[in-house]
Amino acid sequence: MGTGARWLLNAQLQFMSNIIEEAERRRTFAIISHPDAGKTTLTEKFLLYSGVLTSGAGSVTARRGGRSTSSDWMEIEQKRGISISSTVMRFPYRDCLLNLLDTPGHKDFSEDTFRVLAATDAAIMVLDAAKGIEPQTRRLFEVCRERDVPIVTFINKWDRPGRDPFDLLDEIESDLILEPTPITWPVGESTSFAGVIDRIRGEYVEFSRVAHGSTIAPEQSHPIDAPELVDNELGAEALEGVELLDGVDRIFDRKRFEAGDLSPVFFGSALTNFGVGRLLDAIVDLVPSPPPRTDIDDVPRPIDAPFAGHVFKVQANTDKNHRDRIAFLRVASGRFERGMTITHGPSQRQVTTKYVHSVQGQDRETVDEAFPGDVIGLVNANGFRPGDAVYVDEPVEWRPMPAFAPTHFMVARVLDTGKFKQFRSGIAQLDEEGVVQVLRVPDVGDQAPIFAAVGPLQFEVARTRLESEFNAPVELGGTSWSVARATDEASLPELRGLRGVQVVERSDGSYWVLFESAFRVRQVSEDKPDVTLERLMADEAVDSFGRRV
Ligand code: G4P
Repeated sequence: MGTGARWLLNAQLQFMSNIIEEAERRRTFAIISHPDAGKTTLTEKFLLYSGVLTSGAGSVTARRGGRSTSSDWMEIEQKRGISISSTVMRFPYRDCLLNLLDTPGHKDFSEDTFRVLAATDAAIMVLDAAKGIEPQTRRLFEVCRERDVPIVTFINKWDRPGRDPFDLLDEIESDLILEPTPITWPVGESTSFAGVIDRIRGEYVEFSRVAHGSTIAPEQSHPIDAPELVDNELGAEALEGVELLDGVDRIFDRKRFEAGDLSPVFFGSALTNFGVGRLLDAIVDLVPSPPPRTDIDDVPRPIDAPFAGHVFKVQANTDKNHRDRIAFLRVASGRFERGMTITHGPSQRQVTTKYVHSVQGQDRETVDEAFPGDVIGLVNANGFRPGDAVYVDEPVEWRPMPAFAPTHFMVARVLDTGKFKQFRSGIAQLDEEGVVQVLRVPDVGDQAPIFAAVGPLQFEVARTRLESEFNAPVELGGTSWSVARATDEASLPELRGLRGVQVVERSDGSYWVLFESAFRVRQVSEDKPDVTLERLMADEAVDSFGRRV
């Protein structure tokens, strides 16, 4: 081999190992919790500990001071003080880069919730120490469980009177069928919360309070037999707790964690910053780095293959000053560089990537390069849909994004028929973004489409956006439909005209059948065995109340 060729080969090898190394530094995760458990506070403290925020004085929690949170992007969110859209934050911690995908905190589900959770490698389940597992936590947990997403548990608000720690562990185990394995164990509780015993490192970590939790809380490590622990009543009690845990073999097992069967548990207080550093350490040490993504034929695309990404969310109007539309994509392989021309798989269109963002704290910033596990936002990504593949050099097609089974259906009618054109383009856009799924009744078409959603808040978002963005106010009318099934063209003649059954067409040309109840679905399948009625994804997993069905 000539010197030139050897040099090129070496450069190539160097380039590939760099991609693998960069991927290994990434941790991509989400926080799942019930509203008020402390997700926003914890997010802010993550930014504080990473050095992105120099003081904890609310960048993320600024909403309480009247400013919008980093993830607020629509007026209705601000009015309600809730966040219904998702953003991505990237921040460094130790020698890693952490990508935190923000799941909506509201009690209503939207497709976004599922989509975001489908793009994470792990979830931090934040529980309020006084409340334990609450309904929204359970629902989000169920979505994670469907994909065997590893879960790290953070029992928050330990600085306040809460429940007995064993009682909380018992609830996790019996309610979620997930084995809780404490990595840290609290010493004291409420105002006497002084630190934690770290079972893996075998040390006592004493915390110090800082004013308003606005700087990193200093930690002092002591050996497990240090007088600070053993000669102290609370310490001795905590040691007894640890002995009990050891006695029942609650030992951390990485394989079982990665399979989603076991959850390492951390105790702390996001408000006082106690335990936040340990939790971040756990994310770095325990959460797996991005694995290769499998394509439509189940073949994994190697991490160091040429750049490919997977669109998991499309969002409009993230910035009030610019009417824009961002496609969020997760890098699956290779190195992304700003300015690169990438191919949008489904349309085969070449797209230049001059405008690319990541979100850091409150601010969007331009990304110059990204690696597997990172999430980037492509601005003005017209025609992009969740599930789409983008790539360079080696084409790839991902498995389609599951169509999540809607359980809520409403008929939309434009109030001013003179605005019909605006209405049509509005519903096409909302459909494409997955804000609602737009279903057309054959022969009625766009006059009175049916909006389908997994949570009722989606209707409100759709209505507000049709009015404010498209100048097409609508009225939404209730329907009696509650269950959808997929069908095929051959089954249509048999289904049409059946009582309590509505055939509808989706924008991709496929057909769904709407029913008033699961009972009616069963009746029709029994009466018409030749008719195709397929369950939609997540239908089997959770119903609208989050129960397994
Ligand atoms: P969320 O995003 O999950 O909805 O919860 P968020 O962080 O907004 O926290 C909800 C409330 O719980 C806030 O109080 C917050 O300060 C408080 N909180 C969060 N973590 C802790 C903790 O570790 N200990 C204690 N004691 N409280 C915690 P708030 O009254 O709504 O707001 P504020 O007036 O305190 O800012």
